[in-house]
Amino acid sequence: MDPLWYQDAVIYQLHVRSFFDANDDGYGDFEGLRQKLPYLEALGVDTLWLMPFFQSPLRDDGYDIADYYRILPVHGSLEDFRRFLDEARGRGMRVIVELVLNHTSSDHPWFQEARRPGSPMRDFYVWSDTPEKYQGVRVIFQDFEPSNWTYDPVAGAYYWHRFYHHQPDLNWDNPEVERAMHQVMFFWADLGVDGFRLDAIPYLYEREGTSCENLPETIAAVKRLRKALDERYGPGKVLLAEANMWPEETLPYFGEGDGVHMAYNFPLMPRIFLALRREDRGPIEAMLRETEGIPETAQWALFLRNHDELTLEKVTEEEREFLWEVYAPDPRFRLNLGIRRRLMPLLGGDRRRYELLHALLFTLKGSPVLYYGDEIGMGDNPFLGDRNGVRTPMQWSADRNAGFSRAPYHRLYLPPVSEGPYSYQFVNVEAQGENPHSLLNFVRRFLVLRRQHARVFGRGGLRLLPVANRRILAYLREYGEERVLVVANLSRYTQAFDLPLEGEVSLVPVELFSQSPFPPVEGRYRLSLGPHGFALFALRPREEVERLHLPDWAEEAPQRVPAVPLAGGVEGLFIDTLAEEGARAAFLQALAGALRERSWLALKPKEVELLDALRLQKDPPLYLTLLRLEDAQGEAQEVFLPIAFRPEGEGPGLFAGVRGGGGHFFELSQDPGFYSLLLRRLAQGFEGRSLRAHYRGRHRGPVPEGLELLHPGLAAGEGVWLQVGLVQDGGLERTESLLPRLGLPWALGAQGGLYWERGERRRVLALSGALPPGRPQEAFALAEGLALEGLLRLRGHAPDGGARGLLAEALRELEALARLLGVRLALLHRALREAEGEGVGVPLLNRGLGAFLALEGEVYLLALGRGERGSPLKDLARLAYDLERALYLAAEREEGLEAWVDPAADFLEEALLQAYRETSQEGWPEEGFPEAMRLLAERQRWREERPSRLRVLERWQART
Ligand code: NOJ
Repeated sequence: MDPLWYQDAVIYQLHVRSFFDANDDGYGDFEGLRQKLPYLEALGVDTLWLMPFFQSPLRDDGYDIADYYRILPVHGSLEDFRRFLDEARGRGMRVIVELVLNHTSSDHPWFQEARRPGSPMRDFYVWSDTPEKYQGVRVIFQDFEPSNWTYDPVAGAYYWHRFYHHQPDLNWDNPEVERAMHQVMFFWADLGVDGFRLDAIPYLYEREGTSCENLPETIAAVKRLRKALDERYGPGKVLLAEANMWPEETLPYFGEGDGVHMAYNFPLMPRIFLALRREDRGPIEAMLRETEGIPETAQWALFLRNHDELTLEKVTEEEREFLWEVYAPDPRFRLNLGIRRRLMPLLGGDRRRYELLHALLFTLKGSPVLYYGDEIGMGDNPFLGDRNGVRTPMQWSADRNAGFSRAPYHRLYLPPVSEGPYSYQFVNVEAQGENPHSLLNFVRRFLVLRRQHARVFGRGGLRLLPVANRRILAYLREYGEERVLVVANLSRYTQAFDLPLEGEVSLVPVELFSQSPFPPVEGRYRLSLGPHGFALFALRPREEVERLHLPDWAEEAPQRVPAVPLAGGVEGLFIDTLAEEGARAAFLQALAGALRERSWLALKPKEVELLDALRLQKDPPLYLTLLRLEDAQGEAQEVFLPIAFRPEGEGPGLFAGVRGGGGHFFELSQDPGFYSLLLRRLAQGFEGRSLRAHYRGRHRGPVPEGLELLHPGLAAGEGVWLQVGLVQDGGLERTESLLPRLGLPWALGAQGGLYWERGERRRVLALSGALPPGRPQEAFALAEGLALEGLLRLRGHAPDGGARGLLAEALRELEALARLLGVRLALLHRALREAEGEGVGVPLLNRGLGAFLALEGEVYLLALGRGERGSPLKDLARLAYDLERALYLAAEREEGLEAWVDPAADFLEEALLQAYRETSQEGWPEEGFPEAMRLLAERQRWREERPSRLRVLERWQART
């Protein structure tokens, strides 16, 4: 167990009473809470803070305890509590309970005993013959109590109480009291609870002439409590101080690491609301500075709202006037020195502010505390007295009593909110669970992200960035090597700003929700944020980000290459009339070896035969070669490959050297330089003659400086694409003749190419064409990138309850791509039928995602496979296979994504098939899909060593 677990915790505050009623008596209970643990786990919280559930007359909602050792019967038995605790533990959750040290209920037997004249218990409470003692001490519940003294006729004396008159303060000057309270703590800690919230801790001691708050005696008592806890249990159990004080009054509770482990950041909370309304970061910055420098092992508990009023006791008078004015102009919402409203209504129901405040809650320094119901944006009921308006039943569903209880309405401990926009009919867990855009799912997603970076947010340092624009709050969180940049716009208008990131030059900000890299930092970094917008960026070294975005075919293992015993020039390898037979055999053997590694080749050649060769460039020599490959089973395939001979012995595509030195051979299917060279030569009007054939080429479009390789065989640049028919399967011939005739605006026809001619025979070796402006990307690479982003958004969630909602949101872009492909494939099939004629089976696309190119949000088709007819399922399977493989490849790149691949694949395949079906409107045998997938996966399995293909195969074997 990590003794500092509370520094990474995400705490959920709840009332057993208001959470879920399992026995239909109108009160929530431990059994109900136990049943809702899966919900809390899926929400992403890991620590529960339970408000008082002890025997009590409930005149202060349980903070008036009548027996510390008994559970209020409506909440269940100690056995129920144990079962709940066990299960929470089993789910990796911790539990914090209340320790109300300052006062008891007047119903407590101690008080009843103490009132009796001459009772030995008298000294358990604070008595006086006059109400004149401790003059000037403020009254906290000033709307209810005129004084801190109340006369008790039985005792014949006044007793001291800082809260309600029915909550007499315990007398901490009496060592018996302290001993008794330590016993209470031991009792619950022995049962297994992980920590204690120290309610109303500043008021333990009274001294004449002081405020009777935060006295040195009180701090000393807190330290003794800590010592007692440590001595009995060792490290791991925590004390959390409720001290609603000024910063300098709160800090002493931490001591030198020998006081409380945690304290609520009361100074910060109201200033967050202040900064939001003033649209100026000043108040937050000031409080972050004031609350800096707590001991290493200590931690702030951050919160936005809780079960009490938003207290304005510890703000200046001007601050209070402003906050009252803007957040509670109606006196009905004011209580004591505070505002009794829940979070969402406080924010006027503004979703943007809600998200912004959560972004601060989850990323500022401290452990966040969520108040139950705020994750769905619950509202309040102003007609309920005291603070009960913010303590209404959890809204589970639109069913009776908000799904909280099956008891008759009049038996409920409080009515659920049932009027206005926050009514449980609209605001409830069930409705929000399935909606990917709900507040609930926003909070869930954020918490997953936070858990992935728990250390940096929980324990990391916080460095404020001095941005000139004061509406922007920007800070760096740093822990070890990890850095996260947070920027938040407090303004309701869009803001631009420059971040002083000169110290972080060459790091790449990767936006955390989308996982998309931003331009690298080169100095001041300019950003803009929409109204109340915020953003989180991991600052990562450039190489790391590049590794993540490298296409899978580009990863080549470094290798020692075989030597070719070549005596003369390279023409001895390529030109029959000049051939050095022994060298050529060794050369082709080496090439076969290299081609077995190429994942873009379906066949693993055992033998390679040279059919034809033509020199494209003299110096250094570069040959276009036509080859026949044959695998161990005798299956054959023709390929068209560029081979270069260069002096240097390093670089992509290197596969052989000349024995004794003198040069190296490179296979250039993956070298963008080759594609650029070829395009230039085509544009010049290429003519060439080999021993066997004529080569003719042309290209009429633009010829950009360089081309980018989208995948082996396909390159593109500004306004142009170029395909090389590496595998000679007739696809390019079909592409050339059919695409322009299909009449589909998203099918790009060729305007140039390279042709091989021998008598009547003709082959298309390459095709070129025009491209709309923008930066092109191959559709598979797009899918792989989207898969990685999508899965990263899901990392940390368990793929169970509510998974569909999360999937739909996280994979939105990929789902859109799948649907688009489904629609386009259906349209393509129709168009191909018109062009190639009706007949047995559908004329197939016969290619996967690699046939498409993505550009500025549009997806273009630019390649057909060989002419073949069959079932549409075959084409759908090829697309589905690629989508699925993209998911597996993404999961190979980063840890913790595995669990989501299967559900994500199902989800995408469903989208693809559905889009196809709806567009084609023809009945077709969907049942054959798993079989089509399995067959395809079996064939693809041998392409390369990577596990992704095996994974797809296993999946479909299991299904069929
Ligand atoms: C602090 C609690 O948060 C509040 O709800 C309660 O009324 C007072 N302590 C008095 O017990």
